[in-house]
Amino acid sequence: MSNILLTGVTGYVGGTVLSQLLASTEPSLTGLTFDLLVRDAEKAKKLEKEYGNRVNPIQWAGLEDTSFIEDIAANYDIIINVASGFIAPGAIAFVKGLARRVGPDKPAPWMLHISGCTNLADRPLTQREQPFREWEDEKDATAILEQLKALDEKEPYSQRTAEVGVLEAAAARGVQAVSVNTPVIFGEGTGLFNRQGLVIPSIMGYVVQHGYGWKLNETANFDRVHILDLADLFVLLVRTIIERPDRGVGHITSGKPAVIFSEAGRVLIKDINQRCLDVAFASGILPREGTPKDKEIRLVTLQEIADELTAGSMAVAERGWAGHKSTKGVRARALGWEPTRLQEAWEQDFLDELVALQENRRMMSMASCIGTSKK
Ligand SMILES: NC(=O)c1ccc[n+]([C@@H]2O[C@H](COP(=O)([O-])OP(=O)(O)OC[C@H]3O[C@@H](n4cnc5c(N)ncnc54)[C@H](OP(=O)(O)O)[C@@H]3O)[C@@H](O)[C@H]2O)c1
Repeated sequence: MSNILLTGVTGYVGGTVLSQLLASTEPSLTGLTFDLLVRDAEKAKKLEKEYGNRVNPIQWAGLEDTSFIEDIAANYDIIINVASGFIAPGAIAFVKGLARRVGPDKPAPWMLHISGCTNLADRPLTQREQPFREWEDEKDATAILEQLKALDEKEPYSQRTAEVGVLEAAAARGVQAVSVNTPVIFGEGTGLFNRQGLVIPSIMGYVVQHGYGWKLNETANFDRVHILDLADLFVLLVRTIIERPDRGVGHITSGKPAVIFSEAGRVLIKDINQRCLDVAFASGILPREGTPKDKEIRLVTLQEIADELTAGSMAVAERGWAGHKSTKGVRARALGWEPTRLQEAWEQDFLDELVALQENRRMMSMASCIGTSKK
């Protein structure tokens, strides 16, 4: 029996990871219960109602409450921190708590942390564009960590600060750790609360609202992964730790805390816009009165995109929407991860997202997109 603690289960990633752990029919998982850190009492009740005695929600103040985190973390063998990856002190506090379990004859404690590929992106609009580089998690393991550290020393970026902080704290304390560094996630999640991704819904909302697509440059890219393939990777990591006699030590990574990339394909930002336009025009939602009659992708300003799509954050907007970040996930595949929702699922997702928008299942509704919503 293993003691496993999860964060972020009210979110898109965490909700889906939890539901897939619970749905697994693997004998090593079917008897497990999961402790969940949840901020909202109503959501905790709903989790208990839905999943019964397989979950145990625990109220917490959040990733800022580092002394609580350090104490509670000391009770677990595996911590899956799939809440916001942008809060370094909380993420590091989990590692410090796990470190209290490190010792001879004790099972190696593991920290599974989520992070994002924008940590490696350049900022080609406000800084010098970096030459193209594809980072491979096995071969470039040391270089990736050095690059993350160097970038963060020059310019702290909270998601990267958290990723580096977790890996360094774990290495210093003998805690096993991986940061699942994740690209654009697409597809409908299977959690009880937020089931929507960020990138396609945001771009679809913009395209339907304005009637045209946008770009900040020609070359900005993202890798991509389906939410269920990503959840499969977390399930596989947990199974590897609890099923193997070595608890995955020296197997999941080559011994030191490291990044694992979870990519399953690569796309350009302007192509995401093009696909949104294609489905909106094909469905007849576009064009409408006052919007361009033909499909257009306009060059827009970083400020506009930051305001409309990333809550005003220029740092996230430039890395995400203009930056270059190309990853190659060798480690996950070596463990047996086989992503199956590829090009067909990607294309289907644009159709599904348009329907979700029409059915008001997205934070932005069709009515608000086209300016007909009533207050
Ligand atoms: N979505 C993507 O496309 C994507 C891509 C790459 C990487 N990622 C990484 O994955 C992380 C999670 O993304 P997501 O899409 O699952 O986000 P999400 O749906 O917005 O969920 C965020 C989760 O984090 C929790 N949370 C937020 N702030 C917190 C705090 N201060 N203390 C404790 N819990 C907090 C939320 O809990 P409450 O319900 O209590 O607010 C929720 O459970 C991101 O932050 C990012 O690092 C995501």
